[in-house]
Amino acid sequence: MKDMIKQYGNYFQLDTSNTTYSFRVTQTKHLEHLYYGEKIKIDSEDEADFLYEKHEFAAGNTVLYNNDNVNLTLEDERLEFSSYGKGDIREPFVIVTGEDGLFTSDFLFKEAKITKGKEKFKTLPGSYDMAEGVDHLEVILLDDNAKIELQLHYFVYEDTDVITRSAKIVNRNEDKSICVERLMSTQLDLDADDYVLTTFNGAWAREMEKHEFKVTAGKHVNSSYTGTSSSRANPFIMLSKENTTEDFGEVYAFNLIYSGNHYEAVECASNHKLRVVTGINPTNFMFKIAAGEAFEAPEAVMTYSAKGFNEMSHNMHEFVREHITRGKYKYANRPILINSWEASYFDFNESKLLKLAKAAKDVGIELFVLDDGWFGKRDNDKCSLGDWFENTQKLPNGLEGLANKINALGLDFGLWVEPEMVNVDSELYRMHPEWCVSHPDKPHSEGRNQRILDLSNDEVVSYIIEAMTKVFSSANIKYVKWDMNRIFSDYYSNALAQRGVFAQKELSHRYVMGLYKIMEELTRRFPDILFEGCSAGGNRFDLGILSYFPQIWASDDTDAIYRVGAQNNYSYGYPQSCYTAHVSACPNHQTLRETPLDTRFNVAAFASFGYECNLCDMSKEELDEIKEQIEIYKKYRQVFLYGDFYRYDRKNTDNLYQWIVVSKDKTTAIGMILQKLVNANTTFNMFKLKGLENDRKYLFTNRVIKQNIKNFGDLINTQSPIHIKNKSFLQHLVSKFVSMPGETEVYLSSGSAFMKGGVKLTQAYGATGYNDKVRYFQDFSSKMYFIEEKIIEEN
Ligand code: DGJ
Repeated sequence: MKDMIKQYGNYFQLDTSNTTYSFRVTQTKHLEHLYYGEKIKIDSEDEADFLYEKHEFAAGNTVLYNNDNVNLTLEDERLEFSSYGKGDIREPFVIVTGEDGLFTSDFLFKEAKITKGKEKFKTLPGSYDMAEGVDHLEVILLDDNAKIELQLHYFVYEDTDVITRSAKIVNRNEDKSICVERLMSTQLDLDADDYVLTTFNGAWAREMEKHEFKVTAGKHVNSSYTGTSSSRANPFIMLSKENTTEDFGEVYAFNLIYSGNHYEAVECASNHKLRVVTGINPTNFMFKIAAGEAFEAPEAVMTYSAKGFNEMSHNMHEFVREHITRGKYKYANRPILINSWEASYFDFNESKLLKLAKAAKDVGIELFVLDDGWFGKRDNDKCSLGDWFENTQKLPNGLEGLANKINALGLDFGLWVEPEMVNVDSELYRMHPEWCVSHPDKPHSEGRNQRILDLSNDEVVSYIIEAMTKVFSSANIKYVKWDMNRIFSDYYSNALAQRGVFAQKELSHRYVMGLYKIMEELTRRFPDILFEGCSAGGNRFDLGILSYFPQIWASDDTDAIYRVGAQNNYSYGYPQSCYTAHVSACPNHQTLRETPLDTRFNVAAFASFGYECNLCDMSKEELDEIKEQIEIYKKYRQVFLYGDFYRYDRKNTDNLYQWIVVSKDKTTAIGMILQKLVNANTTFNMFKLKGLENDRKYLFTNRVIKQNIKNFGDLINTQSPIHIKNKSFLQHLVSKFVSMPGETEVYLSSGSAFMKGGVKLTQAYGATGYNDKVRYFQDFSSKMYFIEEKIIEEN
């Protein structure tokens, strides 16, 4: 077994397959960060000398650490962690206040332990290691005056080039309590070197917009204060060089295994040093720790690649698949589902649902999901959250009766729940108004007509576990969509009120810990249920949720043209098996946009896949096409879900998207190209394949799609013997029997040729001559390509 962590005297080095991370204990017993980047070879403490920063004097109006070290000002050091009060005035890692109100800390190195294996955190989810045990470095630091211990934990996931970090504060006082006001999860001090920070921000139905900021001076903060990881600012961030592309250049990436308020700050300090910290958002956060007790910060995930964003993403993807997602569905075929939400919203009854299920079965769908509206008196979003019993007017045979009928059709049954919430108009609220996050005597700001249950209260946690156990056991339920549709306001816990005025500042973190207790217990009790996270779409898309639920509904916007960008951006930090995508109706319910059915499929297929539309209203042609889509997805499902996903550079355009996903054994790949808006006479496109084996032979083919003559409007008259008016009944009639041929692409060559030369696709329609060699590639068009290894027998 290889040892990935080495200690040479005061020098510590953590190696993954392609990266090295190192720091040392200084004479003053601080931790100086030395290096994080491409793998380097250092075999002794002396060989690392050159990495140490040389400090001969403290410049200008900086503050000396102490009078014995007149050359040391902590503001100028690159540190593994930092605190306020001893000269470093940059973004701190830790702030702890004692009973005397002092918040200056001075944590100094005490000891380090290198071990194998990873224990579970007590209060939070974390990455988990493989059979042989992950390499673990624990560094213990002590603030002797305050009697507080700070533990830094490093875990080295060699194969995925990922290092995770977490921190823990232990109150070593015998009788005094302390208050943690901030405890970050990681800190990385680099030399400022023209870095670009990328964050993924958005809103409801507009998740994961990619934003880039040149980090030259000052501080940039990416954070959430919604009580969730949020659609406003995903906790995944990247720091790259300006010239980094999808396949070349340096990039660091960070994520956090946490589902609550998070904080990522990148500060470019005056001394040309750049600091990254990530962790729990310190805004309105405080946690009291009694004597002898401890506080755990969430685990931060870091990776580095010298080969561009794609390789960085592959590191993150493999790490998430191998060390975050767990349980039966980790690598399983996720079922193709039909979800009832956009098909009927709240307006359904058993017979309507069964018709939809029957139509779904006919096209090859595997799982029927009953979304919101099945419980209490829920005919709209104003009531009944908390009343988790069937609405017998809609479902006279209950969930069990419905599930049995759906099973009899040959489909599995799945259900939507929103357990963390309560409507004021509900039996639960009438019984327990004190169970929600709100002040009893102050007006409350409602969101979607609902309130949040107080998961810092153990009684509420137990209630949810038992209520959901009852629901999940009430029928043959194979899948659960766990929704959470509002953000926090009026932070106030009636349960915490007894613990003094500052206890309310613990609420947001205690809520998240309560949520994890519930998820842990329910996934333990129901290991065969496939759970899908959801929070008004992607309002809680993070590694904390993925530690329990292997997939998350990525956005309430199902429009393929929005989704192509969102899924492209999710893919920077998350593997495609983790985000779910559905083919929905057109005009799309969120944008009213019309996109071709094949484009809706071509985008949704690169994810955990399903449908969310009223199949009963669809034409035979559409249903036939859906049948074919489902056959394709079933044939290539493992590759779509778990293959290596590559993006293509889009620096100069937002118009064109290309993806390719390649099976682990490199025998199969599927490519996709999508154009948002057409420009006349831009007719040439090339598809440079990625990820294939150089010397193997591959057959490249396309999905041939015949085009409806309606797409050509009155241009059809250039071919037609009779005049056909656009949008006329005659056009409609002719379109039933005549269609335009789709282009065919068939090429056989080696992986290296396809990857270096690129496939010159057939010319796209450009205002002239359409025939079976011309690619129909108009607004919102897309194409799917199949690349399969061809074993050529040698004579
Ligand atoms: C928000 C979800 O994101 C939707 O998919 C749907 O489940 C609704 N909630 C139901 O209220």
